[in-house]
Amino acid sequence: MLMLYFSGTGNSKYIAELFCNVMNTHFSQTASAGLPAQCCSIEEKIDFKQLISSHETIGFCYPIYGSRVPRIMREFVGRHLEYLKDKKVIIFCTQWIFSGDGARVFTDMFSHNFIKVIYAEHFLMPNNVNNLFILPLENEKKIKKYLTNAERKMQIVCNNIINGIIKKRGFNVFSRFLGLFQGVFMSIWEKKALDLVKVYDDCNQCGLCVSICPMRNFENRNGKSIAKGNCTICYRCINKCPQKAIAVFLKAKVKKQYKRL
Ligand SMILES: Cc1cc2nc3c(=O)[nH]c(=O)nc-3n(C[C@H](O)[C@H](O)[C@H](O)COP(=O)(O)O)c2cc1C
Ligand code: SF4
Ligand code: SF4
Repeated sequence: MLMLYFSGTGNSKYIAELFCNVMNTHFSQTASAGLPAQCCSIEEKIDFKQLISSHETIGFCYPIYGSRVPRIMREFVGRHLEYLKDKKVIIFCTQWIFSGDGARVFTDMFSHNFIKVIYAEHFLMPNNVNNLFILPLENEKKIKKYLTNAERKMQIVCNNIINGIIKKRGFNVFSRFLGLFQGVFMSIWEKKALDLVKVYDDCNQCGLCVSICPMRNFENRNGKSIAKGNCTICYRCINKCPQKAIAVFLKAKVKKQYKRL
């Protein structure tokens, strides 16, 4: 089993690694045959075509952005489409509160019966949007609670997968209906966000945003960090900048940062 993930601020990485740990613990305890579950970020510079081809079951884990799969993940799937044909697929979507059909929207990238979804699940994780006062960041105690609940849920999910039980969260008509509204709203913002990253004068030119942005959206021009209009709205730079000098969407300055990574 191969679990591929994109994670802006660490939540989806946590879930993807948790899945592999639980699966591998099970296999070692039951002495089952087969290769261990392998976890890999889509940001790695490796031959994914070869990696995907050598696995029968591929998992995908990503954060939901208003019932939309992050653009970076959609582009990754687009580049590897032919290698995914007829694969068994597990979909994990991480979200703060609600996405409607956050796991199902992943299947919109494929024609009917192109892949075989054997499991789809949503995991509630801490909020990482840190520049909207209506979406407050949680304290450490609350964050730990999310992680404990996710660990409990993952045990059930892995047991189900091992026993061949198929569950597809977000695939029913009601979830699809709710997801539709969020998806339309987010697709508008997604286009706007391309160009909405702002670097304030507080920037001390440390270069961190240039090296951590998964879209290579920043470059250092004449000693100043500049955003180039290629943002996937992952909120990584906003949460990591040591000067809290980066904003997206709203021009409001960041007060707190989410530190999962
Ligand atoms: C642009 C953006 C949009 C988001 N939209 C939603 C949403 O619609 N519903 C939700 O519950 N969480 C939403 N979130 C929260 C994240 O999906 C959640 O915190 C996720 O676990 C972050 O994962 P990561 O740390 O792997 O990037 C959004 C986050 C971002 C950055
Ligand atoms: S991470 Fe922040 S301080 Fe460092 S270069 Fe980027 S904007 Fe400037
Ligand atoms: S500019 Fe910031 S929010 Fe946008 S993709 Fe890069 S790291 Fe993520």
